Amino acid sequence: MRVLVVSDIHSNWAALSAIQEDFDYCLCIGDLVDYGTDPIPCIEWVKLHATACVRGNHDHAVAQRVEAKGTTGFRSLACATRPFHWELLDRVRMKYLARLPISQQITLEGVTFYLVHGTPRDPLDEYLGDNEAAWTARLQGINADFICVGHTHIPFHLDLGDKQVVNPGSVGQPRDGDPRCSYAIIEDGKVYLKRQEYDIQAAIRQMEAAGLAGEALEMASSVLLNGRMS
Ligand SMILES: [Fe+2]
Repeated sequence: MRVLVVSDIHSNWAALSAIQEDFDYCLCIGDLVDYGTDPIPCIEWVKLHATACVRGNHDHAVAQRVEAKGTTGFRSLACATRPFHWELLDRVRMKYLARLPISQQITLEGVTFYLVHGTPRDPLDEYLGDNEAAWTARLQGINADFICVGHTHIPFHLDLGDKQVVNPGSVGQPRDGDPRCSYAIIEDGKVYLKRQEYDIQAAIRQMEAAGLAGEALEMASSVLLNGRMS
């Protein structure tokens, strides 16, 4: 059984469409939208391919029409790109985002996966990196072979003995200094964190054509090219 795990696509179709993997199942850990300006093909791809998908904080904010606030960094990028989503997404796609579960447990061929964007304690918003003790504490009462998480945009794999925590990193906006699209494959109990080069200039051209301009376009381009906020 080969499972593709994707997270934090962030409306970057150029990145998502570059993933060339065969898979039996796909799990999506949320944040399909915001930061980029190409949400429709990303949502449609997830609807078509994901066996299960949970809601990220950005899916929630877009679906609930929460105005982004902030004048610096990623918050200002969300301010600049969220209105594009409200223009582009119809009721059906907005409803799809709104109805994504906050967490989900799914058993595939006898292997159990628990999906949550942040952590079980704070499913949408808590950032938790590869901290073994903290994850052990957060996972009290959760019985699953694999806990698939996202949100930090930084990939990691923790083997806690009876459970494994997998963060596939971000498909559409990596933040670990490596600009390549990030995802994970779980095959026959083994975890592979993988990277794929994609046409970043095509992603930038798409944002420009969509109407992103000025400082927001510069910031979005810089993050994609550098794999981090510089
Ligand atoms: Fe994200």
